[in-house]
Amino acid sequence: MVNDMQNMQSNNTFSADLSRCFLPAKLNGLSLKNRFIKAGTFEGMTAGGIPTQALQDFHGKMADGGIAMTTLGYCAVENDGRINEDMMYMHEGISPQLTALIKDLHQRGTKVSGQMGHCGGFSKNKQLSKRRPLGPSFGLNALGLADGMFFCDKMTLKDIDNLVQAYHDAALFMKSVGFDCVEIHFGHGYGLCQFMSPKTNKRKDEYGGSLENRMRLPLRVLKAVRAAVGDDFPVIGKISLTEGVRGGLDYDDAVKISQMLDAGGIDGIVTSGGTSTMNPMIMFHGDNILPAMLKTEKSPMMRLIMRLAGPFMFRSYPYKELYFLQQAKRIREAVNCNMIYVGGASSNESFELLMQAGFDFIQLGRSLLSDWDLPTQAGNNATYKSRCLHCNECVATIELDDGVHCTRF
Ligand SMILES: Cc1cc2nc3c(=O)[nH]c(=O)nc-3n(C[C@H](O)[C@H](O)[C@H](O)COP(=O)(O)O)c2cc1C
Repeated sequence: MVNDMQNMQSNNTFSADLSRCFLPAKLNGLSLKNRFIKAGTFEGMTAGGIPTQALQDFHGKMADGGIAMTTLGYCAVENDGRINEDMMYMHEGISPQLTALIKDLHQRGTKVSGQMGHCGGFSKNKQLSKRRPLGPSFGLNALGLADGMFFCDKMTLKDIDNLVQAYHDAALFMKSVGFDCVEIHFGHGYGLCQFMSPKTNKRKDEYGGSLENRMRLPLRVLKAVRAAVGDDFPVIGKISLTEGVRGGLDYDDAVKISQMLDAGGIDGIVTSGGTSTMNPMIMFHGDNILPAMLKTEKSPMMRLIMRLAGPFMFRSYPYKELYFLQQAKRIREAVNCNMIYVGGASSNESFELLMQAGFDFIQLGRSLLSDWDLPTQAGNNATYKSRCLHCNECVATIELDDGVHCTRF
């Protein structure tokens, strides 16, 4: 009995590194009560583009569970940046709902970040203001195939200026409704990533060719967002360490991209990986998402396309804890800004390792969907490990009307 008690006590010893996760920290002046941030997870619950009470309750649960900052996934910066009509885009029409939602989360003691997204050339949004979605170059719009939106068009220089303005205006709006931080999406094959990637950017002008040219738009966007929110407001960015496709961005590019963003004044970099349309499984690792996606996909045509593309697109990457650690460490060594780790962080052992490796904050995706009170649980038990099984069925719930959730617990 005495031995059991001693074991329990020694098991519940928090090292100095692990303890740091649970102590307050600052992100460009923003006080966070611990180092855990909820990663963007396409929450849904925005039917017709309007944030709902269900979305507020979802983030409220995370807030009550002790997360320092939650992220509203994919806040499109303009109507044409939406993947579908049920995603919200940043405009005055949803100001009352967003203001109320953020106020409620603040009252629950949690800060709120908004992920600024633009889909660029892949979209199935039927409310587009243009004939086709716009990307860096003319090409296939894989996501729109089943909806008869087969192609995307190349942005003109004027379109590019408009896009920069859209990011600026969205950032201004987001600050006005109470967001504490914005996270620009530079990864996962979305609009800015399409410009950054030699796989999707075939331009011959100053926005294509060398990495410097391909980074011109993302850096202009960063500058415009910074100008909108001011120097003392946290602006972070999410990148893909690799796209995981031949001819796409790779780990060496990610180091240079991070250095450019750092020099451009970003406050923190979130290091993810993969692309949603070409190689999504790198982002997650674990069980293949294809079977679950086939179950929830409503369009028979899209299901057929997914079956045909499956073997190429949904490659398998077995789950292991901290699957991006080695590559993310390279970025840690190359930049001075905050480093925000994401990807398979789901136990106190991992959190401790991340602190030892010099990461400043930890984003949590699936482990928080399964254990919404993860920060509280982990803070009470030194040997805490999330019950998430990495079955990845939550990924397919993106398509469901009741929003993203863990299917197991
Ligand atoms: C259901 C689900 C939805 C996601 N949606 C987004 C999203 O909207 N934006 C984004 O950048 N990443 C998204 N991701 C990726 C996560 O933010 C995160 O990078 C990934 O899940 C790896 O972290 P984890 O191991 O902690 O889950 C999503 C992940 C899941 C599981």
